[in-house]
Amino acid sequence: MTALQPLYTPDRDTVLDLGPCQLRRWREGDQPSLLRHANDAEVARWLRDGFPHPYTAADADSWIEHAGVALAGKAFAIDVGGEAVGAVGLMPGDDIFARAAEVGYWLGRAYWGRGLAPLSLTALSRYATEQLGFLRLYAGVFAGNERSVRVLQKAGYQLESVRQAAIVKHGTVYDEATWVVLAQSHPAVQGRKRWSSKEFHVG
Ligand SMILES: CC(C)(COP(=O)(O)OP(=O)(O)OC[C@H]1O[C@@H](n2cnc3c(N)ncnc32)[C@H](O)[C@@H]1OP(=O)(O)O)[C@@H](O)C(=O)NCCC(=O)NCCS
Repeated sequence: MTALQPLYTPDRDTVLDLGPCQLRRWREGDQPSLLRHANDAEVARWLRDGFPHPYTAADADSWIEHAGVALAGKAFAIDVGGEAVGAVGLMPGDDIFARAAEVGYWLGRAYWGRGLAPLSLTALSRYATEQLGFLRLYAGVFAGNERSVRVLQKAGYQLESVRQAAIVKHGTVYDEATWVVLAQSHPAVQGRKRWSSKEFHVG
């Protein structure tokens, strides 16, 4: 059996400099730009209800306080020219799922189509697997969110499964697709088999 490297606690002030954007800690002063970019029904429609619409100044303040302190090192602002124009982050599991983390991301509409989300997600995924020690990263995508599927493909994620009727958002029912990337650098997950429904049964 291959020994696992430790699961490292992230440095709260980690900055990933990616050229066109920077991933950095949320901070005081981000409220106006967060409000400008997050208060958009086209962004909110593909996210959990925890990302409200309308998005108020109070929502922005409480996110900045929470993300900048409790989630520092895991939740990042996508910074372009000093302005927080979106977010990308890791939500680690607990107990036996502690080596897996869900990833999430969004970007203000004015910044769509420039490749910033694939760039950010690729960097975050490398950081999480290579520096922190996560083995599995996954994203849950509403069926029909083609832009997000393109982001995941460009960041090297693969479709793993579909949960039917898993999501109800604003009264509409959606299937949810789970997209996954594994820490290929780690022997424990290298070349893991992909199950087919025929093989994965009980009895
Ligand atoms: C998903 C999202 C992060 C994409 O970010 P992005 O940086 O624009 O990603 P890309 O630049 O790689 O563009 C992704 C795809 O969307 C297409 N696209 C970009 N802007 C578009 C627009 N305004 N209208 C339609 N399609 C657009 C691009 O052509 C690209 O597809 P391609 O690679 O086949 O050309 C962004 O659309 C978003 O924040 N959406 C709402 C929140 C969300 O869905 N988050 C993910 C939850 S799982």
